[in-house]
Amino acid sequence: MKKKVAILFGGQSTEHEVSRVSAASVLKNIDLSKFDVYPIGITKDGKWFQYTGSIDKIENGEWEEDQSYKVANGQEFLFDRRADVVFPVLHGLYGEDGTIQGLCKLQNLPCVGPGVMSSAVCMDKVYTKYVLENFGVKQAQYVVVNAHEYLKNKEEIINSIEDKLGYSVFIKPANSGSSVGISKAHNREELEKGLEFGLKFDRKVLVEETINAREVEVAVLGNDEPIAATPGEVIPANEFYDYEAKYSNAESKLLIPAALSEEKLEKIKEEAIKIYKNLDCAGMSRVDFLVEKETEEIYLNEINTLPGFTQISMYPKMWQASGKSYTDLITELIELAVERNNR
Ligand SMILES: Nc1ncnc2c1ncn2[C@@H]1O[C@H](COP(=O)(O)OP(=O)(O)O)[C@@H](O)[C@H]1O
Ligand SMILES: [Mg+2]
Repeated sequence: MKKKVAILFGGQSTEHEVSRVSAASVLKNIDLSKFDVYPIGITKDGKWFQYTGSIDKIENGEWEEDQSYKVANGQEFLFDRRADVVFPVLHGLYGEDGTIQGLCKLQNLPCVGPGVMSSAVCMDKVYTKYVLENFGVKQAQYVVVNAHEYLKNKEEIINSIEDKLGYSVFIKPANSGSSVGISKAHNREELEKGLEFGLKFDRKVLVEETINAREVEVAVLGNDEPIAATPGEVIPANEFYDYEAKYSNAESKLLIPAALSEEKLEKIKEEAIKIYKNLDCAGMSRVDFLVEKETEEIYLNEINTLPGFTQISMYPKMWQASGKSYTDLITELIELAVERNNR
């Protein structure tokens, strides 16, 4: 019997649009001889609808206006267990952060990707640091700034950042994704602006020393015995890999494999698998590193538990380069979710 797969798209995060494109790719490529698909759209204000119209309208956002194919039973669909598996093709908050995973867990529904705790820790860049420090994973030096503290002791906090990190620094909301809310500060004025900007997105921001680095990404797949594809490299068109460089600037480049020695690539794969296991990831994750240009020292940057998933996104592309087709990858992820749920 074919498995019924609910494909969740859209969602309430700043990455709503990216999610729609990822989901459209999944819907166009999923193996329909193995699965029956049920697309479920989540609007930016958190309303769930089952949607049976065209994939193109999911991609361009017109599905929300398409009343003839929209049924207001998106959450019921899951709660009534009309699906066998859930594939949350959602990025960022309320999708990649453990919340949807919790909803599935309550219903005993297999869900693609890491579980509640792992998703939540990987989503929060501060907690990722706290956890991985205990496993000796090298990461950029940092300071955590809390909105409440910042309002009380602004000068003091800025001074301590300058003392500890100097310039330039990166300022990131703890729960950012797609570089939204992130800025780079080269001086005190920019730092102050960057903190205020970052705190609009989260009540906690992370300030990090800048690593003069190449950006190397690793696709990891599996449950208890995860494997890694050959690492790739992104070469951003802008000063850093900001939203524009990620999605609109055609000058940004993806290189597979990353331009590093075989030995280094192996080392990075091992490190990615170690991190994946230490954070109790399952299904998939993309583990992103900063590799210092001169010393080639490896710093963990972040883990994405539901990485960009269009056919031309880094995660599927790295698997393609390692011999796994996009369609087979989707099948495997669904099977991994079922396997994980059965124990
Ligand atoms: N400490 C750092 N040193 C150098 N570049 C960084 C640093 N932190 C972030 N960046 C740059 O900012 C981009 C976005 O940061 P990242 O932590 O990956 O956030 P997001 O979750 O939004 O992708 C990275 O891809 C990289 O270009
Ligand atoms: Mg990133």
